[in-house]
Amino acid sequence: MSKKDLIDIKRLPKHIAIIMDGNGRWAKQFGKMRIFGHQNGVKAVREASESAAELGVEFLTLYAFSTENWNRPKKEVDALMKLLVETIDKEVPTLNKNDIKLQAIGNIKSLPENSYKQLNKAIEETKNNKRMTLNLALSYSSRWELTDAIQEIAMKVKKGEIQPENINQDLISSHLETANMPDPELLIRTSGEYRISNFLLWQIAYAELYFTDKLWPDFRKEDLYEAILDFQNRERRFGKTSEQILNA
Ligand code: FPP
Repeated sequence: MSKKDLIDIKRLPKHIAIIMDGNGRWAKQFGKMRIFGHQNGVKAVREASESAAELGVEFLTLYAFSTENWNRPKKEVDALMKLLVETIDKEVPTLNKNDIKLQAIGNIKSLPENSYKQLNKAIEETKNNKRMTLNLALSYSSRWELTDAIQEIAMKVKKGEIQPENINQDLISSHLETANMPDPELLIRTSGEYRISNFLLWQIAYAELYFTDKLWPDFRKEDLYEAILDFQNRERRFGKTSEQILNA
């Protein structure tokens, strides 16, 4: 039996975020270059996207490239950018067939010109799709995003468009890259690392965290189902007591 059958569709997380980790270690097992791991990670991206969309998850955010990843050897960065663009380009018909909208968060203007163009083209070509949003975090880091938002808010204060006393959590959220999305309720990280790595720090305030030892290229639909089942077996209290939740 698939774990899918045990999932309560009425209590799905609306937004799942994934830190895809372990591609390099996966490649090393086979004595191959790190890019071999990234190439094989594409299958896992497909599996996660398909299974999330099939279930009815509304937003899936994948941490594909962090601002810190620019410090990797140039050869790996170039190969990763090429892979990202080729994959996005190739997957557009499938995204359209499955009614999946592509979006991106991060400092995407810092991507190489060709990658930036291709990404925007794919975003444009899938913008009317409704079933799920596949949100790629590219050249993203939470501290970059927060700094950018604070600068933007400060400018508006300076121009008199915002009064300092009107700065509240909703206003801050609306200046983040994820302004049009609900906060992730479930954050998954693969490869047995227990870190957040500068990912969605503001947005995951109440997210359930799920860690698996699986390396990203080995991640399959059943692994996503398992993470969702684990999520559904937890009691989400948002600072309240168990009694308050049970009697609500
Ligand atoms: C982390 O593994 C993975 C990445 C930095 C890149 C993820 C990219 C892909 C899966 C390629 C395709 C993606 C899309 C969205 C089309 P790592 O290199 O840090 O692995 P390690 O921790 O074992 O070294």
